[in-house]
Order: sequence, then structure tokens, then C-alpha cells
Amino acid sequence: MNQNIFKASSKIIEISQLGDERGYLSVVEENLSIPFEIKRVFYIYNTKKTVRRGFHAHYKTRQALIAVSGSCKVYLDDTKRKTDVTLDSPSKILILEPNDWHEMHDFSTNCVLLVLASHLYDPEDYIRDYKKFVEVYDS
Ligand code: TYD
Repeated sequence: MNQNIFKASSKIIEISQLGDERGYLSVVEENLSIPFEIKRVFYIYNTKKTVRRGFHAHYKTRQALIAVSGSCKVYLDDTKRKTDVTLDSPSKILILEPNDWHEMHDFSTNCVLLVLASHLYDPEDYIRDYKKFVEVYDS
């Protein structure tokens, strides 16, 4: 049994849209709106509508997902609760905890999905086998 797991509930948070006649600006700050230190940033774009990506969980990596342009859905499964959330605004952030198996899907053509992560890229931190995921987290 792996003792180094971090369990919490993923959730959607709303951040402010600071607007004036010039347009909008939204801010994310580590340990404030984002509940962790940000070690890595990546973004997913040019994804076809029929594509599903992800299909994994993590041991320790926490992430924050923001559709900074367009929209997409994220299927979440913590072994008990299975749900789909929609990211359709740059002010909506999915705080995605390591114990959620996740699949991103239904990307709009203009979707740019920005991901802020708590750890550097480490293939060892991925659980890509669903059976293994249930073994680790179904307790
Ligand atoms: P992959 O895990 O397949 O993406 P998704 O979870 O969206 O399906 O990642 C695609 C490729 O990018 C794969 O070769 C691993 C690589 N990659 C990195 O090198 N660093 C990273 O931070 C990430 C997220 C992926």
C-alpha cells in the first residue's frame, strides 16, 4: 500500500473578473486562490471535439484547470462519486485533486485549457491503470 497519497475533494472555484472599459483581467496567486505552490504550467489546445484526454490520477500532484479560452468538460471519478464538470469561463477554476481519475472532453475548437500544477513532471506520479487507481484510492 502506498502511504504517500494526498486525498481531498476536487472543486470548482470562481475568481474575480476585474473589468473596466478596456476588458477583463483575472488573477491567480499561489497559496491564495490556488491552494498550493505552482511548480509547473502547461496548456492544452487545438484539441478535436471528439478527443478525450487524461485517463489518469496522481499520487501527489494537485492541479488547477482553467479554460482561458473556449470550453471543455472534465469527467471526475474518485472511485465513489463520478461527475462531469464544465469549464466555460476564464473565471472558473477546477481545483483537481490527485485522487480524482480525470478525463477531459468536449473541447470547443478555440479551447485553451491552462493547467497549473503543484509538482514538476514526473511519470512516476501518474496512475494510468484504472484497476490500480481503485486499489490505491478505494478505501
Ligand atoms: P499526456 O499525459 O498524454 O496528456 P493528457 O493527460 O492530456 O492526455 O501528455 C502528453 C505528452 O506530454 C506525453 O508525452 C507526456 C508529455 N508531458 C510532459 O513532458 N510534461 C508535462 O508536464 C506533461 C503534462 C506532459
